[in-house]
Amino acid sequence: MELTSEKRRKKSIETICAQADHSNDSFGAHVMPIYQTSTFKFNDAEAGRRFFAHEPGGATHSYSRLGNPTVQKAEVVIASLEAVDLDEEAEGMMFGSGMAAITTGMMALAAGKRILSQETIYGCTSQFLEEEAERFGIGVTFFDPNEPGALEMAFARHEDIGLVFLESIANPTMRVCDLEHISDYAHQKGAYVMVDNTFATPWHIRPFNFGVDLIAHSTTKYLNGHGTTIGGILAARNSFFELTEMHTWRKNFGGTAGPFDAWLTLMGLKTFPLRMKAHNENGIKVAQFLQNHPKVESLAYPGLPGHPDKEIIERIMMNGYGGMIAFEIKGGMQAGIDFINRVKVPTLAVSLGNVDSLIQHPASMTHSVVTRENKEKAGITDGLIRLSVGVESADDIIADLEEALG
Ligand SMILES: Cc1ncc(COP(=O)(O)O)c(C=O)c1O
Repeated sequence: MELTSEKRRKKSIETICAQADHSNDSFGAHVMPIYQTSTFKFNDAEAGRRFFAHEPGGATHSYSRLGNPTVQKAEVVIASLEAVDLDEEAEGMMFGSGMAAITTGMMALAAGKRILSQETIYGCTSQFLEEEAERFGIGVTFFDPNEPGALEMAFARHEDIGLVFLESIANPTMRVCDLEHISDYAHQKGAYVMVDNTFATPWHIRPFNFGVDLIAHSTTKYLNGHGTTIGGILAARNSFFELTEMHTWRKNFGGTAGPFDAWLTLMGLKTFPLRMKAHNENGIKVAQFLQNHPKVESLAYPGLPGHPDKEIIERIMMNGYGGMIAFEIKGGMQAGIDFINRVKVPTLAVSLGNVDSLIQHPASMTHSVVTRENKEKAGITDGLIRLSVGVESADDIIADLEEALG
């Protein structure tokens, strides 16, 4: 029977996530087992030969660095969240950390070429580009994607740009750039576009809808949501990994995720939509409270009218604005440090996207590896505070912030 297009449509994010850990293993386990094994036995020599020759009819797995059923389950789920609006499918590839995913993706797409990168990005990604990429023969140029003409000027100056790298919501400044325009332009010039979608998650921004080629995540954050793993993923539309030999890059750099970390990520994904709804509800309440507080100098939250990228945000974000807030307290470095020492409900810790609130000071913590000059250019001031609003009671979070602000 021919299915109607309505029946053929993809499942929604809520359904994919609630059933993220469903298994079809041979014992009938409901929840995906943790295939905690380094190697897989072959039924006979022919099965092993066929596996390595990529011929059908051989073994399905050989060695967990190349592929593991629990890891593959998480890869399929996360890739399908990113591709939920597409007619085609996407593939995922999990890594032992977000940084392993990002650096492997960059090496695969830009070896021997130049990366044009957004200048305000996560500290370790920035450090890799500033200090290490060139030693591997990758040229690096930074640009401000929100500065009109900066993209075009960079391409005019450098003929060797092979990859444009962006964060869909920049860490920690919360700037949002026009993924569609940048992807269109980069593709016209023959370059790929890679986006770190960690802050936004596919709940809020789906970069494939705007032409992006490769999506990276630190799954450590919202996708796991419970602060129990370090992990990363790359997601791409079908055939992109084959085209770019990404499996070989991961196999040989060896940054593959372990099965237990993938399993913990699957457990977290089950409640991903519920958590994101709660982060949103609290995020906007806390942002409004902070914005109106006399001791807060400035604040960046995509859901407030004053955000400099509001027009782009309304075009590319959906389902609310998330739980990440960056704000500056009057009084600079010391005022910021005194404040984070006084808060009691958010935990003073790096990382983000946990069910519980986390607060940190980028200038001395996550972005301490970024040079002072680049911090200044990127707007990472000494008094900037980054708050990952959790799903506790918004009233409790606000009361605590109010007391700590004094
Ligand atoms: C936006 C962003 N990308 C990547 C990373 C790196 O992820 P991981 O710590 O899992 O390597 C982080 C970590 O904080 C991040 O905030």
